Order: sequence, then C-alpha cells, then structure tokens
Amino acid sequence: MKVAFLGTGLMGQPMAQRLLAAKIQLIAYNRTPEKLSPLQAAGAEIVEKPHQAIREADYVILMLTNTGAIYNVLLSDQSSPALAGRTIIQMGTISPTESQEIRDAVVAVGGEYIEAPVLGSIPEAEAGKLIVMVGAQREQYQRHLKLLQHFGSEPVFVGSVGTAAALKLALNQLIASLTAAFALSLSFAQHQGVDVDLFMQILRKSALYAPTFDKKLQRMLDSNYTNPNFPIKHLMKDTDLFIDEAKSVGLNVSSIEGVQQVIEMAIKMSFAHDDYSSIFSVINTNE
Ligand SMILES: NC(=O)c1ccc[n+]([C@@H]2O[C@H](COP(=O)([O-])OP(=O)(O)OC[C@H]3O[C@@H](n4cnc5c(N)ncnc54)[C@H](OP(=O)(O)O)[C@@H]3O)[C@@H](O)[C@H]2O)c1
Repeated sequence: MKVAFLGTGLMGQPMAQRLLAAKIQLIAYNRTPEKLSPLQAAGAEIVEKPHQAIREADYVILMLTNTGAIYNVLLSDQSSPALAGRTIIQMGTISPTESQEIRDAVVAVGGEYIEAPVLGSIPEAEAGKLIVMVGAQREQYQRHLKLLQHFGSEPVFVGSVGTAAALKLALNQLIASLTAAFALSLSFAQHQGVDVDLFMQILRKSALYAPTFDKKLQRMLDSNYTNPNFPIKHLMKDTDLFIDEAKSVGLNVSSIEGVQQVIEMAIKMSFAHDDYSSIFSVINTNE
C-alpha cells in the first residue's frame, strides 16, 4: 500500500509522521516545499507537484486548509485524470455541501471518496489520539478503517458523506461559542473585582465547566497567543461555514453571528495566525 499525503501543515505533518512510523510507504506534497524536510528525513518520498504523488498512490490523504486548496491540489487539470482508481480521504474541515461536491467530482473521474475530519489538535495528532469522524458508506468505512486507525484508535462511523463534515462543524461551533462565553465571564469577573482563582474554583465544581476553559485560561490571563495549535483564521473559516450551513436549514444563528463579529475583530487586530483564545483580547477591551 502506498499513501500520498497532500498538505503537510500543522496537522498534516504529525499525521504523515504517524504513517511513516508504521512503515507505510509515503509520498508527500506540500505547496511550501520547505515544510517537507522533516518527512523526507523520516523516509517519505517528496514530489514537487500533487499529480506526481496521486499517480503513484493507492490512497490520497488530504489535510488542506479549505475547499479552494482542495480544488487546487486535487481537482486541477493535471491532478483530476490521476484520480481514477484511487481512494481519496479528505480530513480537513470543510462544509457538508463542499464535501459532497468534491465527492461527486472525484467519483466522476473514477475515484473513490470518503470524508474523515478530525477533532483534536497537534498533540493528539502526534500521539495518534485524534477523534476521527467518518462520512462514507458503511462498507467503505470498514474497508478503510485500518488506515484511519493510525490517526485515532476508534474512528467513528457517522453516516453518508456530509454527515461527518456536519458533525465536525457542530463541534467547532462549540469551540467558538464556549471560548467567547468564557472570555466574557472571565473579563466580567476581573472587572468587577472578583478573584480569578475563586471564579475558577466555583466554575470547576459546577455543571457549567468545560475543560477547554482551563486549557485557555493562562493564555488569556497572559495575553499570550503565540505558537498556536489551531490559529484563529481557521476558526473563522469554520464559523463562516457553520453559519452558512445552519442558515440553509433555517436555524436562528444570531448567537454565533455575535461570536463571528468577535472573531473578525481578532483578525483585524492581526491575531489571524495566533491562537483562537485571542478572542479574549477583543472582549476584554480594557486590557
Ligand atoms: N490545527 C488544528 O488543531 C486542526 C484540528 C482539526 C482540524 N483542522 C483542520 O485541518 C485542516 C488543516 O489544518 P492545519 O492546522 O494543518 O492548517 P495549516 O497548518 O494552515 O496547513 C494547511 C495546509 O494547506 C495547504 N494549503 C493552503 N492553501 C493552499 C492552496 N491554495 N494550495 C495548496 N495548498 C494549500 C498549506 O500549504 P502551505 O504549507 O504551503 O501553506 C498547508 O499544507 C484545516 O481545514 C483545519 O481547519 C485543524
């Protein structure tokens, strides 16, 4: 079995390393070639163009930013003809509608397509402990399960293509909303002279607590958003995708639209490449 890995950014890099560690033959492509050096050192074959990787592989794994990147890399005039007979596993965060469109394009040229977006970040990718959510036919899920288990031991079958993408967006809506809600309560407590330790002690004991609060607390208190695992520019993408999809099924999205404005302001304040806990610096204007 030979795997083409397309997109070796923050997440793609450790995920590709997992495959190499399992002695899987890997051929890797990344738009910025410098990022491929660690994979080459670990034994991956490196190519300059995506179609060169696709042509040689049985599986093509995508860990790219968004649909635009997927069209560039996978569905260009050069890459498309190479997809026949290959299995494409799309693991980035895109919308259900986008995922179904890409499936149709892949199937039209004789390829197979499944979606497998992930929950978890760089540490989980390094440890093979991502939560992998699979949108496919059940038979496809079973056939490709072994490969997916390199990224997380228990990939979950969600349903047909689009359902796993939808589940991933539902979870990322929570990332945005919970972070904004926590940042606001923390700021409010601080400004009202409430001791932060006491606020956290009570919150931790309550049903309102979510572990992400403690994960982001120190960054917020220190206004330190450097070296992100998940930059806020990606959370903006996911929030925009969520709102579009939720509106299309008639949901009231006013709460997440408020959060969207906060995220847009963080981008304007040049936090795009920083951790999404920079939401705190937008909310806590007197910092
Ligand atoms: N980071 C996380 O914690 C996390 C967790 C779960 C899911 N995700 C999702 O997984 C995906 C990848 O995330 P990441 O954190 O690894 O992002 P990243 O570090 O920004 O990597 C993005 C990858 O896409 C490539 N790319 C972007 N635009 C392109 C284009 N127009 N043509 C060709 N290649 C292009 C980048 O190439 P260059 O290196 O040349 O820029 C890079 O390989 C995203 O959909 C993200 O939302 C991220």
